[in-house]
Amino acid sequence: MAEKSNITTLKPLPRHVAIIMDGNGRWARRRFMPRIMGHRQGAVAVKEIVTAARELNIPYLTLYAFSKENWSRPAEEVEGLMDLLFEYLQKEIDELLGKRIRLRAIGEIEALPERVYNLLMETMEKTSKNYEMQLILALSYGGRSEIIEAAKKFARRCMAGDMDPEELDESSFRSFLYAGDIPDPDLIIRTSGEKRLSNFLLFQAAYSELYITSTLWPDFNKKEFIKALNDYRRRERRFGMTSEQILLRCTSSES
Ligand code: IPE
Ligand code: IPE
Ligand code: MG
Repeated sequence: MAEKSNITTLKPLPRHVAIIMDGNGRWARRRFMPRIMGHRQGAVAVKEIVTAARELNIPYLTLYAFSKENWSRPAEEVEGLMDLLFEYLQKEIDELLGKRIRLRAIGEIEALPERVYNLLMETMEKTSKNYEMQLILALSYGGRSEIIEAAKKFARRCMAGDMDPEELDESSFRSFLYAGDIPDPDLIIRTSGEKRLSNFLLFQAAYSELYITSTLWPDFNKKEFIKALNDYRRRERRFGMTSEQILLRCTSSES
C-alpha cells in the first residue's frame, strides 16, 4: 500500500541531470589495475547513461568529465584522459547524430590539447542542429572560474558603455556563463560516496537536489540511474517556501 501511494505521488522526471562521475581510480585500484583502466571502464558507463537519458527523454545531461583541478594529476594520467576523450568523440559521433543528441562543452576548453580541442569543436558543430537532447561535457571546468570569467565579461560590457551595473540581475548574469541558456540542474548525482561539489556548477546548483551513491562510476548503470531519478521524483522541492504553499501551487496548476 505504502509503495502504491509513493507511485501516485511521483513527480515528473528532472529536465536537467548533472553527474559528478567519480570513483574510476578506486575501481581500478580494487582490481590491482592502473588508474587509466578505471577511466576506460568509466567511458563505457558514460555510453550507457547517455543512452538511458535519451530513452527517458531527459533533455539535458551534463557530465563532469575533467575539472580545472584535474590538470594537477600526474602527466601520464592527464594524457590518458585526453586520449580517452579523443577516442570517445571519434567513436560516438555517429551515435550522437543517429540519436539526435547535441554535444556541447562548458569549461576552459582552449586549454585542451589541440587535436582534442579541434575534434570537440568539429563534433559540436556537426551535432549543433540536434534538438532532442543536449549532452554537455564539463571539460577543464571550474565553477569559480566560470563565475569570475562571467564577471569579467560583464565588466568589459560596462566599460564599453553597453551595460550598466544597475541592470545586472540573476537572469542577465546567467548570459555571461559558459552556457547561460541551459536551465539549472534539477538533480546532481555524485558517485563514489564523496559528499562535495568539487567546484561543479557553483552558480547553477543553488537549488539542485543532490543524490550521492557509494557506487563507483564504472559500476553505475541504467538501473542505478533510474533509482536516482525515482528518488528525486519522491522529493518535495520547496525553493524556500512552505510545504503548504507548494501543495497549493500544485493543485491550482492541475485544475
Ligand atoms: C573520476 O574518477 C574521474 C576524473 C576525476 C577524471 P577519479 O579518477 O577521481 O577516481 P577516484 O576518486 O580516484 O577513485
Ligand atoms: C571531481 O572529481 C571531478 C570530476 C569528476 C571530473 P575529483 O576526484 O577530481 O574530486 P575531488 O578531488 O575528490 O574533490
Ligand atoms: Mg575522484
